[in-house]
Amino acid sequence: MLTAQSLRQAFVRTFGDQNRKIALTRSPGRINVIGEHVDYNEGFVLPAAVNRAVWVAAQRRLDSKVVVFSATVDEKIEFDLKTMRNEKDHGWANYPKAVLHTLQNRGWKLEGLNLYIESDVPMGGGMSSSAALECAVAWGAMSLFPYTLDKLSVVKICQRAENAFVGVNCGIMDQYASVFGKQGHALFLDCRTLQCQPVPLPLATHRLLVIDSMVKRKLVSGEYNKRREQCAEAVKALKARFPQVKALRDLEEADLAKALPLLPPVVAKRAEHVVRECARVKAAVAALRAGNLKGVGALLNASHESLKTLYEVSCPELDLLVGTAQRTPGVLGARMMGGGFGGCAIALVETPAVDLAKREVSRVYQHRFGTTPPFHDVEAADGTSEVVAPS
Ligand code: GLA
Repeated sequence: MLTAQSLRQAFVRTFGDQNRKIALTRSPGRINVIGEHVDYNEGFVLPAAVNRAVWVAAQRRLDSKVVVFSATVDEKIEFDLKTMRNEKDHGWANYPKAVLHTLQNRGWKLEGLNLYIESDVPMGGGMSSSAALECAVAWGAMSLFPYTLDKLSVVKICQRAENAFVGVNCGIMDQYASVFGKQGHALFLDCRTLQCQPVPLPLATHRLLVIDSMVKRKLVSGEYNKRREQCAEAVKALKARFPQVKALRDLEEADLAKALPLLPPVVAKRAEHVVRECARVKAAVAALRAGNLKGVGALLNASHESLKTLYEVSCPELDLLVGTAQRTPGVLGARMMGGGFGGCAIALVETPAVDLAKREVSRVYQHRFGTTPPFHDVEAADGTSEVVAPS
């Protein structure tokens, strides 16, 4: 298990210097109970930070070099603060680079850094390991340099880093959940106002089981950005008839029948997903608060169907995981989670049925795809923080 102490020791083993300040930070991965592909439509989401995190140990250097070592992938990458650009073969290291670049653009006078990274968030698997890495690096930089940022600024800087530097036009959900996570709670976030209400997750009697398809799709960012463009196209096309619609979140479910025929067929499907998914998030929050977990499960199932057929971001592996989970007794609902085309699914399961669900899903997946999917039995946890090792 990762601890502040083991992180500090690993940093010293890797970089040697224990006499100057080593900032230790951790930033969690996230799940999303419901509300997929709605954050960039200014809609509602219900993510939670989880008890798996990216841990970063950071120390200043005396030159302008940044040396990043990831123990998780056992790779060391170096770059210079003066010449930072997105480099394909720097892979994961583009995320810390993006954050440092964004901080520099904000006027921060940085010096070089040694960064040691270790993570138990599955990489590229729909639990937002990259957002967690970005937030941990920003937090660490804040601890080492004479600047302060409030939490929301960290979130926005990391989102901008990913949009402008990495080139994925992501919404705000992942970074927000990582930074603002609250133990035992999901975050009901309005992605327009950024107002957030914590919603208790009743995890004594039920579990949120994350199932990893292990599919890592290429071209995902291309498909993702395309969905964003289609949503923008819908808003533009609806302007004349629905002037109040500034983002798809403004379109009422009751107006869909009038609005959809005004759009090209594919764009209409995207818009319908977003509008109905926003309504499902609100319904899920009400159901959770009322203790109606069956109702939550049904909403998860409906969300998956919509992501599969209207938004078209699922894949055969996710469909099989979700379909099998949904048919297993004791599973109240399941859906794909995150950007899609691979990554993870999430299921709401009665606690005594968790083992059966794992067995059943493993059996079916193994039979069809020849591998067993990893399961992550997650809990909602607190967001980004500095951690302290006894010296
Ligand atoms: C990715 C993005 C998020 C969000 C989800 C889909 O995780 O980073 O901003 O759009 O996909 O809900």
